Amino acid sequence: MDNIGLIGCGAMGSALAKGMVLRGGIKPDNIYLFDLNKERQELLSNELNTHSASDYSELVKNCKHIFIAVKPQDSEGLLYSIKPGIGNEHILISIAAGITINFIESCLFPGAKIIRLMPNTPCLIGEGTIVISTGDTISDQEFKAVNKLLKPLGLAIRMPEYLMDAATGLSGTGPAYVFLFIETMIDAGVAVGIRRDVASRLVIQNVIGSARMLEENITHPAELRNTVTSPAGTTSTAMQVLEENGFRSCLLKAVIAATKRSEELRRG
Ligand SMILES: NC(=O)c1ccc[n+]([C@@H]2O[C@H](COP(=O)([O-])OP(=O)(O)OC[C@H]3O[C@@H](n4cnc5c(N)ncnc54)[C@H](OP(=O)(O)O)[C@@H]3O)[C@@H](O)[C@H]2O)c1
Repeated sequence: MDNIGLIGCGAMGSALAKGMVLRGGIKPDNIYLFDLNKERQELLSNELNTHSASDYSELVKNCKHIFIAVKPQDSEGLLYSIKPGIGNEHILISIAAGITINFIESCLFPGAKIIRLMPNTPCLIGEGTIVISTGDTISDQEFKAVNKLLKPLGLAIRMPEYLMDAATGLSGTGPAYVFLFIETMIDAGVAVGIRRDVASRLVIQNVIGSARMLEENITHPAELRNTVTSPAGTTSTAMQVLEENGFRSCLLKAVIAATKRSEELRRG
């Protein structure tokens, strides 16, 4: 019964399932998948060799931990559909942006065991970030069991639920900002005469190397940036252009806008 159920085999659901099987060493035989889109469900279950549930009740009957990975607007309908089979033996783990623990509980029953996550797609390769908030009914032991499942997917950090919208704007959406940055840098490399494949390798290694330096030095990024900025040099000239064009304020506004959008989704 300690099996894992995953409802919703889209972008994020697949990343979680693949991360758990390929990185976390969870046996495929312990995973049940379900999606209204049967093609998607079969594709993922065939790839990972997991169970492919024929309906909600098969999944709910066999699984203790049930991940809900459908779009926020599909969450309410899904919760009412699985409600008849859900009891105190289940732990529901929702990744839907803006769908609160209180709301999930109101769709199920008072005291239902609920955990909210804000993951991101690099969970697929064990390099994601996962923010975790727990409902009052989750014991320390239950939290630890879920945390153990999530650890192989990346950095898991527990936060109070009121910070979930912020976690969505910063971390759930985070990879998209980084991908856009990388894509633009590659285009810039091509613009200054470097072959696209070479520019791509250079930019990706730049991002990996810079992130690793920060990880290892545990120092402020501005300090590291200052060390590569010589007086009247190339970096200084580039920084001036970035400042003049609002690079920082644009990023700040993007994260704040994504956080507000998550709040809006929560309020329906
Ligand atoms: N994508 C990300 O980077 C990311 C990051 C953090 C959190 N999230 C959260 O993750 C959740 C899923 O996002 P996603 O991008 O993975 O969405 P997605 O790719 O659209 O996948 C959702 C899947 O669930 C299916 N579905 C819808 N209603 C269902 C139901 N009642 N029962 C079973 N399956 C159902 C959908 O089928 P149809 O397509 O046929 O509707 C689709 O295959 C969202 O709530 C989002 O807030 C996503």
